[in-house]
Amino acid sequence: MDKPTPKDDEVLVRVRAASVNPYDWHFMRGMPYPLRMQAGLGKPKDPRLGVDLAGQVEAVGSKVTQFRPGDEVFGCARGAFAEYACAADSKVVSKPANVSFEHAASVPIAGLTALQGLRRGGVSDKSKISSGKKVLINGAAGGVGTFAVEIAKSFAAEVTGVCSTKNVDLLRSLGAARVVDYTKEDFTESGPRYDVIFDCVANHTLSAFRRVLHAKGSYIMVGAADGGGRWMIGLLARLMKASVLSRFAGQKLAMIGAKITREDLATLGELMNTGKVTPVIGRRYRLSEVPEGIRYHEQGHARGERWS
Ligand SMILES: NC(=O)c1ccc[n+]([C@@H]2O[C@H](COP(=O)([O-])OP(=O)(O)OC[C@H]3O[C@@H](n4cnc5c(N)ncnc54)[C@H](OP(=O)(O)O)[C@@H]3O)[C@@H](O)[C@H]2O)c1
Repeated sequence: MDKPTPKDDEVLVRVRAASVNPYDWHFMRGMPYPLRMQAGLGKPKDPRLGVDLAGQVEAVGSKVTQFRPGDEVFGCARGAFAEYACAADSKVVSKPANVSFEHAASVPIAGLTALQGLRRGGVSDKSKISSGKKVLINGAAGGVGTFAVEIAKSFAAEVTGVCSTKNVDLLRSLGAARVVDYTKEDFTESGPRYDVIFDCVANHTLSAFRRVLHAKGSYIMVGAADGGGRWMIGLLARLMKASVLSRFAGQKLAMIGAKITREDLATLGELMNTGKVTPVIGRRYRLSEVPEGIRYHEQGHARGERWS
């Protein structure tokens, strides 16, 4: 494809690293179907894939004042799986000098989702009450989950991670105080109660999650293992149920949609800069191997984030 030209409020980035998200294959397949309202009904409005990137600014639009050619940035763009991509200047921030392009590119969507989801559950750097809060991360070995473990830990929460056998050691190394291997144990059947359940998998009923949630706890839903299926019927039904129950139960039951903000990208940059968060890179691919990377990711058992 032609090298893109930045609009007035965009920067042209020479991509040094990009990472794969479920978002990418959802847009590639046009699935769940309701997504096509945004992505294009018969065919994609934009055939380029890839959102997360890190790289060097090559050129800036006429209204961009905060970046100059040569600056190193990370954030979200259109068509990140390419040598060059354009990003709105509001969706990228400076990359800390001591953080690699690969690590920085792993962060944006997954890191923002983890940070904003935890905050919604009352776990944040600004809240003193994060300290000692019992937080369970379901799907803790994936892109969002690994960031959620590290971020919650950095906010002094007591973290329990749920994953399969092969990822138990990984979660321990990230700082999880307790790890549940879901192939051997169902955490909804017994065990402690949690202040926050951060759910990337949605593989139990709401009632099962609520059973192990404190009376005033928060259940934050992030995603589902089946990606919402074709029509998102199960997901929408769960959302409606959560919204009704929230009004009557003391527990907060909510779903979050990540927002790309410079402020939160900068917070994530600072967490990396200070060594509190070190992204997990499960696999590496060359640009020509992006299809393989997406194919692997679609299977739903990716480990951490992944760069191409
Ligand atoms: N709301 C938002 O704004 C937003 C933003 C980003 C992503 N999402 C959604 O959030 C979900 C997670 O995204 P991601 O990037 O973390 O995906 P991912 O990297 O593909 O990770 C999925 C993880 O789920 C784990 N898993 C699968 N079955 C499990 C089970 N039964 N119990 C516990 N863990 C299980 C896998 O670990 P094992 O290999 O150990 O099974 C894998 O590590 C996706 O549905 C995605 O679409 C939502």
